[in-house]
Amino acid sequence: MTTSPLLANTREELADALRGLEGPVGFVPTMGALHAGHASLMERARKEIGADAPVVVSIFVNPMQFAAGEDLDRYPRTFETDLEVCAAEGVDVVFAPSVDEVYPGGDPQVTVDPGPIARVLEGSTRPTHFRGVLTVVAKLLGLVRPDVAVFGEKDYQQLVLIRRMVSDLCMGVDVIGGAIVREDDGLALSSRNRYLDEGQRRRAVVLSRALFAAREAGPRGAAAVLEAAHQELGRVDGVDLDYLELTDPDLGPVPDSGPARLLVAARLGSTRLIDNVALTLNGDN
Ligand code: PAJ
Repeated sequence: MTTSPLLANTREELADALRGLEGPVGFVPTMGALHAGHASLMERARKEIGADAPVVVSIFVNPMQFAAGEDLDRYPRTFETDLEVCAAEGVDVVFAPSVDEVYPGGDPQVTVDPGPIARVLEGSTRPTHFRGVLTVVAKLLGLVRPDVAVFGEKDYQQLVLIRRMVSDLCMGVDVIGGAIVREDDGLALSSRNRYLDEGQRRRAVVLSRALFAAREAGPRGAAAVLEAAHQELGRVDGVDLDYLELTDPDLGPVPDSGPARLLVAARLGSTRLIDNVALTLNGDN
């Protein structure tokens, strides 16, 4: 049996909904167009806080993290099915505010400066993106005041930056990273996958294939990892590579051995996809 979550559209309705709930609060911020990847984060939040504690999901397409010319206007909006996904996951409160509710008076004067980690990888082509992400996440954390907040490893740089913000600004919330949920063929689920036409969808699988091949090459070291990934990527036309970068788990310089992260971004037509994988360099497996 599923019961419908309480729907809050305003700060006041959210505060009212939260007042009626007991126990530690788990929170999953989203931009909607919910899929199994988002659902897995809701499950994770539930697991972290326990069966009787409240899980809050926000659905808000945040204009501040989209640059002019990006897909803000065509970003998929599927509110009714989103509510069904939340209900099926036993979510207690859905916070779905308007832009005015989140940004009364327009753009905020005070924003979060995301620092140097926001200038690499995604930040090199999207220089204002993470200021928008961290500012809205800070606002949402302030409104929901959760004990635990769950973010996906799918947006790995975002996760690293949110951890960093919460730690550097002493925000006092436990940040949990949820594993990437993939299609059967390996493509990471994304709200943007629906932009792909049939041919692009077939070619998009090369991203995860490249990451998995690279992971296998981990024991042979960094150069072998990158070579394996490039070899896979080279097999398919029409996939325009933005970056393929190997880093340490905090997005710092590649370690000689031990845990590392390989991150990729590519364009298929006008659709930009990102993916990443954890791997071990020069380790036993
Ligand atoms: P959105 O793209 O809707 O993603 C919401 C959360 O779902 C993020 O933490 C993201 O990493 C996670 N997610 C997306 N695809 C996933 C997958 N295949 N497997 C596991 N988790 C996945 O990320 C945002 O929204 C926004 O930037 C937000 C944090 C809400 C701020 O506006």
